[in-house]
Order: sequence, then structure tokens, then C-alpha cells
Amino acid sequence: MKIAIAGTGYVGLVTGVCLAEVGNENVICVDVDEAKVESLKRGISPIYELGLEELMVKNYDLGRIDYTTDYVSAYCDADIIFIAVGTPERSDGSANLDYIKEVALQVAESVRKDVLVVIKSTVPIGTNDAIEEYMQKHLKNKGLKLEVASNPEFLAQGTAVKDTLDASRIVIGVESEWARNILNEIYSPFEQPIVVTNRHSAEMIKYASNDFLALKISFMNDIANLCEIVGANVDDVAYGMSFDDRIGSKFLKAGIGYGGSCFPKDTKALHWLSEHNGYELKTVKAAIEVNENQKLKLAKKALKIVESFKGKKVAVLGLTFKPGTDDMREAPSIVNIQYLLERGADVWAFDMVGIENAKKIFGNEINYSTSIDEVILGAEVCLIMTEWKDVVEYEIDKYMKLMKKPLVLDGRNCYSLDEMKNAGIEYYSIGR
Ligand SMILES: NC(=O)c1ccc[n+]([C@@H]2O[C@H](COP(=O)([O-])OP(=O)(O)OC[C@H]3O[C@@H](n4cnc5c(N)ncnc54)[C@H](O)[C@@H]3O)[C@@H](O)[C@H]2O)c1
Repeated sequence: MKIAIAGTGYVGLVTGVCLAEVGNENVICVDVDEAKVESLKRGISPIYELGLEELMVKNYDLGRIDYTTDYVSAYCDADIIFIAVGTPERSDGSANLDYIKEVALQVAESVRKDVLVVIKSTVPIGTNDAIEEYMQKHLKNKGLKLEVASNPEFLAQGTAVKDTLDASRIVIGVESEWARNILNEIYSPFEQPIVVTNRHSAEMIKYASNDFLALKISFMNDIANLCEIVGANVDDVAYGMSFDDRIGSKFLKAGIGYGGSCFPKDTKALHWLSEHNGYELKTVKAAIEVNENQKLKLAKKALKIVESFKGKKVAVLGLTFKPGTDDMREAPSIVNIQYLLERGADVWAFDMVGIENAKKIFGNEINYSTSIDEVILGAEVCLIMTEWKDVVEYEIDKYMKLMKKPLVLDGRNCYSLDEMKNAGIEYYSIGR
């Protein structure tokens, strides 16, 4: 089976590489970005994902996977085409489907044999129907069989390869036995549970899953804020809750809010879709509001303490929206750094792998380092934005030794209150 994949981002590239890894011998990944394709051909991953580059190189050397910008040659004789391009947020909160439509048109004009088109991107309910109709209308070789199936992706950045090779479930939304059989064949080597629904339900499973997780985070952040007022410790509260199987132990950690390329846009897109259909999704609306308020909580608190940031060295530990990824999209660090810069701070930022992407946002407005020592040296305030291992395992006495004033505001609850107190550090965290 010839498999083509449109888009070599976090989802497309990982999907392509993993499909090759399970034995498919004809996987072709398409991207419009020439530099990305060049880099992929040289065995260099344009994104940071644990274990990805090794599998890329292995399967490229085996001749199972290739990369191209020439979409016509990739799509014309493909049996199955996965669409994994971005669906970013529009200014009104709705999902921007321009990239999906662009690929749909390219596919419709290129295919020369029957093909199943599978939408992996996160798209609003009804999009698969609309894209199928759009492609049928623009199909150059009329008479060919072309059907669209939904196959939302659930991988998490940082563990994308593992999540794909060992997924909790594969969701496929189909309208025919033909589509179902092709997807069953593609996914059988993964030996994972396959959930088959219609296209609308598959599209909704993706949004409902992401929005539920976002809601869980916002709920704990809301509880954390109340814990601070009434004198409870949210970490202890979360631990106590986690024993209940109905609640589960994951996504109970309070912090400075969710970011990344999915939760912020997927909550807004479902909320928009709901309003558009005359229904108010109150829980999701609340999750969005709590998250917005949470992001700047610590920077605002720091300002109250130091009164002014002007000319002061402020250390920011962690740039990416979470550890394990180089993705800066919607990272809480962005609004915090903007807040600091607007108030005249001299910002020094530490990150393990996010510096190159952060430079695209802040250029030389801030200083970057992969050394925590360098970043906190002489700083008057330290804000912790991402719980990178290096931050969590950092020798806390060094805040005392290296900072001008040991004031640490921790947005990820990396340290124990007692340890920080005993070390003589003025320390604020979330919900404790
Ligand atoms: N990133 C995640 O963790 C994740 C997880 C699950 C689902 N999703 C969803 O998957 C989709 C893709 O997300 P991503 O993070 O992988 O996006 P991304 O921005 O990392 O990658 C998209 C890629 O598509 C390419 N592209 C754009 N137009 C193209 C075209 N016409 N032909 C070929 N390539 C084209 C871009 O150059 C880019 O490389 C989104 O809908 C997202 O919501 C993402």
C-alpha cells in the first residue's frame, strides 16, 4: 500500500515514521516547507521528539520512507493519504481550515486512482463531510472513488513516538465498510484497540478529549487559587484525590496554566462551534477563562513584591509550554516575558531545547542560556515556567548563592516548601 502524508509537523512526521517502523515500505511525507524536507532527507528532525530521529534515519536507510515537496508525485498513485496539516486558531476562536482545504484541492487535482483520504488534523464536527464534498467537486479525474475518513490524533508532544507506537486507542470515523477495512489493515500491526464510529463522533471524540483534559487542569488551578486563600496545599489535595479511580491521578497538577498548540485552540474552537450552533458550552468557557487568568499570576505577584522590574535582572526558567518539547506555541512563558519586557526588566531565559524557537519570538530582546547558573546569577527575581528535569533537580542552595536576592516564584511547584524555607529562599508557588 502506498501511503502519503501531508504535513511533516509533530503529527504528520511521527505518523509517517511510525507507519514505516511497523513495516510499511512505501511511505511518502509531503511538506510545502523546502528547508524542512531537505533537513528530513539528511536525517535531521526539524522538531524535538524523543526517539524520533533514530527511527527516521533507520527507516529512511531501509528505503521505507521518503520526503518531498512534490505533492503531485506523492498523491497521484497513493492508496491512502493522511492529512496532518495545522488547524490554527482564527481571531474569533474558530478553527482555520485553510491548510486542510489547500491539501484537499492538491489531492483532488493530483489523484489518478481510487483513494482514501484520512483527516488526522483536529477539525470541527462536520469538516470531514465538507472536505469530501469539496474534493468531489474539484476531482480532476471524475469517476475515481474518493472517500474521506476521520482519524484524530491523540499523541502528546514530548512522548509522541511512544504514544503512537503504544497508543491507548485508535479512533476511526468512517461512512463505509471500504474505508473501515483499509484503516483496519493500516492499523492492525500496531495491535491497539480500535474504536470505530461515524465521522461526526470521531471528530467530537478528539475535541471532547482535549477539552476534558484542559478542564481538568483549569479545575485544579481554580482549586489551587482557593487553597491559597483558605490555607490548604493543592499538591496534598491532588494526591488525596488521586486514589479515587473515578478521578485518576493524571492532570491534577496545579500550575500557571496550559499552553501548546492544542488545548488553547481546541477549547476555543469547540466553544466557538457550540455558540455557532446556539448552545453555550459553559464548562469549556470556564476552563478558558481560568487558564487566561492563571498565566500571569506569578509575574503579577513578583511585581507587587519588587515594586518595579525596571533595570532588574529577571531569570525565567523554562520557555517551552511543557518539558520534553521544543514547541513554544501558546507557552505561558511568552505572555510572562512580554509582561516583564514591557516593564523594563532585563530578562535572562533558560531552556533545554526551546531557545531556537524562542528566538523567533523574542529575537535579541532577551538573553538565552542552557545554564541555569548563568541565568540566575545576579538576578533579583526568578520565575519558573517549565518543569524541565534540570530545574526540578537543581541544587536549591544555588538560588541563595547566585541570585542577588533569592526570590523564586515557581509556576510548576518544583520544590518542597520546607526545603526552600530552610534554604532561606523567599518562595512562592501555586496553591500552597
Ligand atoms: N501537536 C500535537 O501535539 C497534536 C496532537 C494531536 C493532534 N494535533 C493536530 O494535528 C494537526 C497538525 O498539528 P502539528 O502540531 O503536527 O502541526 P505543525 O504545525 O507542527 O505541522 C504542520 C505541517 O504542515 C505543513 N503544511 C502546511 N500546508 C501544507 C500543504 N499544503 N502540504 C503539505 N504540508 C503542508 C507545514 O509546513 C508544517 O510542517 C493540527 O490540527 C493539530 O491540532 C496536534
